Amino acid sequence: METLFSGIQPSGIPTLGNYIGALKQFSEVQDDYDCYFCIVDQHAITAPQDRVKLREQIRQLAAIYLASGIDPEKSTLFIQSEVPAHVQAGWMLTTISTIGELERMTQFKDKAQKQTEGIPAGLLTYPPLMASDIVLYDTNIVPVGEDQKQHIELTRNLVERFNSRYDDILVKPEIRMPKVGGRVMSLQDPTSKMSKSDNNHKNYISLLEDPAAAAKKIKSAVTDSDGEVKYDVENKPGVSNLLSIYSSLTDESVSDLEAKYKDSNYGEFKNDLAEVVKSFLTDFQERYENYYNSDKLDEILDLGRDKAQQTSEKTLQKMENAMGLGRKRN
Ligand code: AMP
Ligand code: TRP
Repeated sequence: METLFSGIQPSGIPTLGNYIGALKQFSEVQDDYDCYFCIVDQHAITAPQDRVKLREQIRQLAAIYLASGIDPEKSTLFIQSEVPAHVQAGWMLTTISTIGELERMTQFKDKAQKQTEGIPAGLLTYPPLMASDIVLYDTNIVPVGEDQKQHIELTRNLVERFNSRYDDILVKPEIRMPKVGGRVMSLQDPTSKMSKSDNNHKNYISLLEDPAAAAKKIKSAVTDSDGEVKYDVENKPGVSNLLSIYSSLTDESVSDLEAKYKDSNYGEFKNDLAEVVKSFLTDFQERYENYYNSDKLDEILDLGRDKAQQTSEKTLQKMENAMGLGRKRN
């Protein structure tokens, strides 16, 4: 069986965009791959975090993974900072990265630009840590959104460099992007991405927000004036975004939905979608609460940590041998 790895930062509460673009797809591939799902808290601290909030968000994210259908019997769910091999291998890959290629990363450029009091070095060395997350598990497939494509390309370059310079031991991963819902857009500005860090709360739906409030946001989402429920990203970005959300949450195809609402106005369409979102969130949050408040969550994370440690330690040792670190081990 091939291996699949993905990670989400516990840097806020995930949105409906995270669910549709990432979490939902994760639960769907569990039978086809040996899956590792990571809460990447060491990536999250490349931006300042409040310690109490970070701890809470880590637990929330773990419960959100489980509420999304990640089954701990099938997949390994764990916290990055509890598996030391990540930073150890991350350092090794940092030493073979060049400042030039790291400075060319779009995410680095964007985030560096927003800093007023100096650029944290961790923002620059973020990609080799991400590469180490991936290579430690001999990962074949990395399902991520479009924004992570450049980081995966860099990972592939680092793998090639390591393998040719030291020893041919690292597996070169492939990126996998979702077919539908790869980019859920903002509800008020459907030309930009739905993001949990958006200042305007009307732009996104958090997975843990009040379902009735979320329904309201759907009803007041920006559409257009032509009144036809039709998928056309270029000319009708708002309606197209709502159609993708609808399709993803109900598993009805976009063309079936277009047919269903052929003779309806936007009001009817939005009312129905608002109900779909409301009942999705209600069910989701019930599952979430059960996990969040249970000791089982800690047991799952302990088990995940132990499994991840076992696998990653083997790759780490091979990497250290290849680079000549420490003493020879058998
Ligand atoms: P982030 O919120 O940036 O940590 O992203 C976590 C995962 O969700 C990544 O795989 C992203 O590509 C994905 N993701 C984030 N925002 C969206 C969105 N608006 N639509 C679809 N996928 C998203
Ligand atoms: N950089 C990713 C993001 O911001 C999170 C991430 C960290 C990740 N390590 C990873 C994703 C390894 C996939 C594989 O979304």
